[in-house]
Amino acid sequence: MAAAVSRRPLVSGNWKMHHDHIEALHTVRDLGLRIKPGDVSSLDVTVHPPFTDLRTVQSLIDGERLPLGLGAQHCYYEDRGAFTGEVSPQMLARLGVAYVLVGHSERRQIFDMTDEAVALTLRAVLRHEMTPILCVGETEELRDAGATSSHLEAQVRTALTGLAKEQVGAMVLAYEPIWAIGTGRAATVDDAQDACAFIRSVVAEMAGEPAARALRIQYGGSVKGANAGELVDAPDVDGLLVGGASLDAAGFVDIIRAVSDCYRSSAA
Ligand code: 13P
Repeated sequence: MAAAVSRRPLVSGNWKMHHDHIEALHTVRDLGLRIKPGDVSSLDVTVHPPFTDLRTVQSLIDGERLPLGLGAQHCYYEDRGAFTGEVSPQMLARLGVAYVLVGHSERRQIFDMTDEAVALTLRAVLRHEMTPILCVGETEELRDAGATSSHLEAQVRTALTGLAKEQVGAMVLAYEPIWAIGTGRAATVDDAQDACAFIRSVVAEMAGEPAARALRIQYGGSVKGANAGELVDAPDVDGLLVGGASLDAAGFVDIIRAVSDCYRSSAA
């Protein structure tokens, strides 16, 4: 099924608050040894370490020409100023960061990131020519109440309103149902496909069909090597945002290979 679309899948490892810069060095070096050129010929891979690791990981990726994109997990939306403890998009861009997660559910829920802050951060990331990965997803309560679609639509609309069609087409969205994050209970393939197709239909209404067709939508929540292939085989799932299973190089490479095999076999 995946062959019907030309979107290049994106597999991203969100390390959250794991791995100091020494552990990051070992993990990325291990990834570099394990990933073979054929594993990444049909997909993109990014790693999103904590801020304190970024310089170390960037040096390793550049120095050893590793086939990995450098990602961050968050940033503030101002470029500089009296914002103690924050990191600006300009600082990330100067470090060679190419992708930034925006509005991850942990930022929204634990750190009270509002829809308005998500929209401002998305624009700040775009202003610095990095690719935002906009995260959306419903809680278990909303899902049980049958409110998944209305919640996803509201999150997508508040974040994307006013953006140029080209900007929307070039970005990444991640559907991460909150009940599936870190629980070992991934969404079913049908649920992931339905949510991603619905998100794409909202984007089509807002930014037109070409932008909606170009936009990559990842699924995230308890992804591992065993379920990665079937998830990305769904036509509207263009990659995976992986938490726990991305911390260990061997486990992350299993996921990368499962996605690569799926795209290679469907292209054959
Ligand atoms: P897990 O893969 O650990 O469920 O985390 C998903 C996630 O939140 C990635 O951003």
